[in-house]
Amino acid sequence: MLTKSDSPEKKTSVVIIDDDRNILDLTSLILAKHGFQTYTADCACDGFELISRHTPDLVLLDYIMPETDGLSVLRQVKSGFPDTYVVMLTGKGNEEVAVELMKNGASEYIVKPFNNRNLIERLENVLKIRKIELHNRELQKQKEHLLFEIEQWNLDLKKRVREKSAALQNALEEIARSEKLAAMGYLSAGVAHEIRNPLNSIALFIQLMRQTATEPDQLEYQAKILKEVDRIDAIIRKLLDASRRTRTITSDIQINQIIDTAIEAFSPQTDARKIQVKRHYHCVPPPITADPAELEQIFTNLFLNALDAMSYGGCLAIEVFENNNRVIIRVSDSGSGITEDVLPSIFEPFFSTKNRGTGMGLPVAQRIARMYEGSMEVECTSPEGTTFRLEFPAFT
Ligand SMILES: Nc1ncnc2c1ncn2[C@@H]1O[C@H](COP(=O)(O)OP(=O)(O)OP(=O)(O)O)[C@@H](O)[C@H]1O
Ligand SMILES: [Mg+2]
Repeated sequence: MLTKSDSPEKKTSVVIIDDDRNILDLTSLILAKHGFQTYTADCACDGFELISRHTPDLVLLDYIMPETDGLSVLRQVKSGFPDTYVVMLTGKGNEEVAVELMKNGASEYIVKPFNNRNLIERLENVLKIRKIELHNRELQKQKEHLLFEIEQWNLDLKKRVREKSAALQNALEEIARSEKLAAMGYLSAGVAHEIRNPLNSIALFIQLMRQTATEPDQLEYQAKILKEVDRIDAIIRKLLDASRRTRTITSDIQINQIIDTAIEAFSPQTDARKIQVKRHYHCVPPPITADPAELEQIFTNLFLNALDAMSYGGCLAIEVFENNNRVIIRVSDSGSGITEDVLPSIFEPFFSTKNRGTGMGLPVAQRIARMYEGSMEVECTSPEGTTFRLEFPAFT
């Protein structure tokens, strides 16, 4: 049977569970008189229903009730309603049990029969302790929340530091690369001139010798010397290209046409090597004001590399499309790909994996792309091939 004393709301609420109706009524009366909101139940089952309904501040629980084990009721209350404090009512001689009850979460035990003053005093003590403990728990929660937030900030901060460090590292590498290019440009401009003149003379003299030579050995050696002279000349040209800072002619250029011209220049090689060339021009991008020779150089270098990577034939695909006000050009080959250990260095001046490579193709191409506010990077690479991605702003 459930009863509720008539008391105003928001008072300290107590559920009293005792099978002895007299104790129940008497206790309820005393507590109500002292301003408590009381709910009474004469069995554990009803008591539990009251606790679930009102979530009281306190439960006064009789330890010995028919068909009920006080300890298990206590445990149920403590696990289901941790903020509800339980005061056990025990009979005389049950002190040992009472200690056991305290170990299992009871806040206090009161030995029956009890006097009114003692009951009120003990309950008020428990309530004081409860108030402090709940407050501490709240503070603990706030502390954990703050610690969690600090941890999140730390993680965020660490992430940002990592990102900024990576950006700084990239910038430093970029500076080192440009410095290398600049130093190289300065040197090469002077050295190229000095070397080219004697080189021309060597080529000239060899050609004169070839006019009179009859021995096949001599002819072969002279041809080899001329080939090497050509190679030196090509290297010098590349060094000069890499260091060239001023644009010669600039005009409005259709990038698709530039690509066509570069492809055309390579047709003898692609035909001979049975390399299929595929063009996918998905748009006609707005013209770029640029030096056509420079832009062509980008594609020449990319195509040369692609051809080098496809010694046994394959496919060279060029795709042009516009996205987010950017002109995007993809140059893909079905060559051998770039290995992971090589990939970070390919834009470094002088880095080459080829016997006769100067390692200037990609740094020069990238420098030119950047000169026109563009970018150039490896989009993907695998043993099935490589795709380079170029992006330029689509100024209209
Ligand atoms: N399409 C590609 N497939 C596979 N590897 C490539 C490709 N493009 C570039 N590489 C790698 O990047 C390196 C650097 O290329 P880069 O064009 O700068 O120099 P290079 O081709 O070696 O010499 P150069 O172009 O001056 O004759 C190459 O040696 C090669 O290892
Ligand atoms: Mg190259």
